[in-house]
Amino acid sequence: MADQQNTPDAPAGFSSDWLRMREPADHLARSVSLTQSLVAWRESLTHFNVVDLGSGTASNFRYLCPTLGFNQSWTLLDNDAGLLSCISDRLQQWANEMGFEYHLASDTSATLEGDAFSATVQWQSCDLAADMSTIDFTRTQLITGSALLDLTSARWLEQLANIIDTTQCASLFVLSYNGSIDWQPPCPFDAELTELLNVHQTSDKGFGNALGPHAHAFFQQQLPTHLISTAKSDWLIGEDLNAMQDILCSDWTQAAIEQDSKAQDEISAWSESRLQLVAQVASTLRVGHVDILTLPPNA
Ligand SMILES: C[S@@+](CC[C@H](N)C(=O)[O-])C[C@H]1O[C@@H](n2cnc3c(N)ncnc32)[C@H](O)[C@@H]1O
Repeated sequence: MADQQNTPDAPAGFSSDWLRMREPADHLARSVSLTQSLVAWRESLTHFNVVDLGSGTASNFRYLCPTLGFNQSWTLLDNDAGLLSCISDRLQQWANEMGFEYHLASDTSATLEGDAFSATVQWQSCDLAADMSTIDFTRTQLITGSALLDLTSARWLEQLANIIDTTQCASLFVLSYNGSIDWQPPCPFDAELTELLNVHQTSDKGFGNALGPHAHAFFQQQLPTHLISTAKSDWLIGEDLNAMQDILCSDWTQAAIEQDSKAQDEISAWSESRLQLVAQVASTLRVGHVDILTLPPNA
């Protein structure tokens, strides 16, 4: 996995620091109504086994687990051993903050308990681009992922949809970038920069040519018989999240230059003006995302 991904969702690579920085913005952006629909569906089930694809340091688990309630079994899959090795500490810290019981059961598994839920969670290294067919989804009720779909290719999304259809499970894929970026106040070259970035988004992120901003729509088309709900989950990155704006601006500059080195002068000028506004705490940013919930046809 390359260190620098140059994607709207992973500007500084998938470092644990970056994932920690973006987690509050991610959680705030996510659709509450789709989560509630999932909770309502989940209430009719006695078991709830969840597989989280591209889990990073378990942000998606931290968001969903307390809300889903009752007994849950989670498997977190990622190909980045460094991120997986942070999970235990992150969960322990989170459990302390939230007043949940945390017990590390082995090097790669733990149990958590709150007033309204009890969960087992295990994490494993898995290259999803290579190994999807080796994952056992037979007892899975939910396949989920956060900030993942836009990194993936048409072929991979077809494979994912086929698994969801075959197992007749639900899926929740949140925070897929949709190609829209709105900086305020505007600067010259904002639109051109977004265009370059969106083309760069379709380069190979490890899964074959990525669908980038088109991934969410393509994924939905692969599940014609499932009940599909979508909702906007835009990042709203205000002046209070200046450090995040700074990182995004720098990373997008690099991506745009990689995409069109002939436009380097315009891109650098854009970057300079934008970083100046950020430094003056006078810039806000909206990054468009989509959440998708799919429920099996008999739901
Ligand atoms: C943008 S990060 C999101 C992480 C996490 N879901 C979150 O919301 O914080 C994308 C994640 O996908 C993982 N990933 C990328 N390519 C992968 C692959 N081929 N196999 C498994 N995980 C992968 C990365 O390691 C990273 O943790």
